[in-house]
Amino acid sequence: MTSTYQRPLEAATLLTGRSHGPEHRYGRSGPAFWDGLTLSSAATPQPLAAARSAGLIQAEHLLETACLGSRNGDFAAPSAGAIQPYECYAVVDDDAAPAVYALDPVRRSGRLLHRGSEVAEALARSHGPVPESGFLLLVAARPWLSMRKYGDRGFLYTQLDSGHLATHLLLAAGDQAERAELLVGPPSAPLSEPLDQLLRLAARCRQLVSVLRVSGLRPGAPARTHTGWSYQDDRSAVPTGDPVAWLEEACWDSIPAGGADAHTDGAPGGRPLPAAGLLTGSSALLPHAPLVGGTDNRALAARRRSAKGFRPGPIPLDQLTWALGGMRTALPVDLPADPRFSATLVARDVDGLPTGAYDLTAPDAPPRPGAVDPDELVAACMGQQQLRDAAALVLFHAPRRSLHSGGRRHPVGPLFRAGALGHLLYLGATRAGLAVTAIGGFDSARWAELAGLPTEQDVLYILLLGTADGSTAKLDRMQTAYAQDEK
Ligand SMILES: Cc1cc2nc3c(=O)[nH]c(=O)nc-3n(C[C@H](O)[C@H](O)[C@H](O)COP(=O)(O)O)c2cc1C
Repeated sequence: MTSTYQRPLEAATLLTGRSHGPEHRYGRSGPAFWDGLTLSSAATPQPLAAARSAGLIQAEHLLETACLGSRNGDFAAPSAGAIQPYECYAVVDDDAAPAVYALDPVRRSGRLLHRGSEVAEALARSHGPVPESGFLLLVAARPWLSMRKYGDRGFLYTQLDSGHLATHLLLAAGDQAERAELLVGPPSAPLSEPLDQLLRLAARCRQLVSVLRVSGLRPGAPARTHTGWSYQDDRSAVPTGDPVAWLEEACWDSIPAGGADAHTDGAPGGRPLPAAGLLTGSSALLPHAPLVGGTDNRALAARRRSAKGFRPGPIPLDQLTWALGGMRTALPVDLPADPRFSATLVARDVDGLPTGAYDLTAPDAPPRPGAVDPDELVAACMGQQQLRDAAALVLFHAPRRSLHSGGRRHPVGPLFRAGALGHLLYLGATRAGLAVTAIGGFDSARWAELAGLPTEQDVLYILLLGTADGSTAKLDRMQTAYAQDEK
């Protein structure tokens, strides 16, 4: 039976067109507020019967590794509070016409948004044509999904989370195709604008974070995905756009626009990106022990989990350096080398290494001896008792001023880098058999002092390593947000 059902007008009270002023969001009358509490289902979708192209099937397959690729059915990439504040779009060739689909691997559904000349024009002004025998996969952040739990700090988590997902997808794509490369850095930010405009991302409070370019799919790559995906043609809905919920709009408007980065030479139109390390500098504690790639990475990603708690006791130095060596994996990412971005190891209980702080990016820097006692650690991690007995921590840090150009307009390069390196460290620790968890709930200034960092350094992200205790609950997923230090 076909339906001509239309969304009732009243339901729009909770949603804003982007041109509406604040009076539409607040101070609603009782009836208008009540209208806003009701749901109205979408019009019956127009199913898309056309056969899916090989590129689209491969993009689906890649996304399934992100959401179903772990051994226990959880998401493959870590995310603060397990929120996953992003969404994905694939650009593929549909019968020789470029097309953009919004893909949702959880519902296993796709929506065709654009096809034909408008996509070709946007690509010509940005990333070049859809690669032969390949596709582009876009990650767009939706900061409010994290900000509604964590307030302003949710923006930081959104950037770190996106770095994890993009790196996971890049590694997984390397297994599927001859070439996979990630465009994310300042060079590609202006490049991304035509796609951003085509998809009305900023108008819908989304930020394009990365574009994964995959080409030369291997013959052995699966021709179809395990579980059925359904598609609908959403092109007629595009011109009117999706209305934005007022709360999402309020979060988005609270983020500064960010400065314009100079457009340096990116990697448009198929010029290969060289693989490079994401950390500038070196240290004897950071051996050249990159992840080997291929199915090994897939197996590590499937096993990787965040520790729920640590038990007291030392970890062996060689196991620790084997874990840290994962960060030496060279990746084809267009982030330029950034010597201002550093990593510091805080050793608390490592067999063979005195307690203290060690610069992982300056080979000649002397260690800074000193122990971080358990009460101090818990306090500097916003009261997270489950972290008390971590044997070592890795702090990623950079000068505050290097963060300022990022905002709504551009992803924040150092945060993306921290997320990507954090991901490599997760996989390195999994390979070495160490328990690991990232944390976002920490006091940056206090950790900078504990690790003896120069005063202008901001600690952006921390990962803890050690031996897992038997805890079964991941506490930061609970409602009480550690980042807020709520009582
Ligand atoms: C940016 C970020 C911040 C996080 N912050 C914390 C934290 O403060 N405390 C904690 O125990 N876990 C933290 N985690 C780990 C997440 O809780 C974990 O990734 C999520 O629950 C999914 O579980 P999984 O990593 O085992 O798949 C964080 C993870 C990320 C990526």
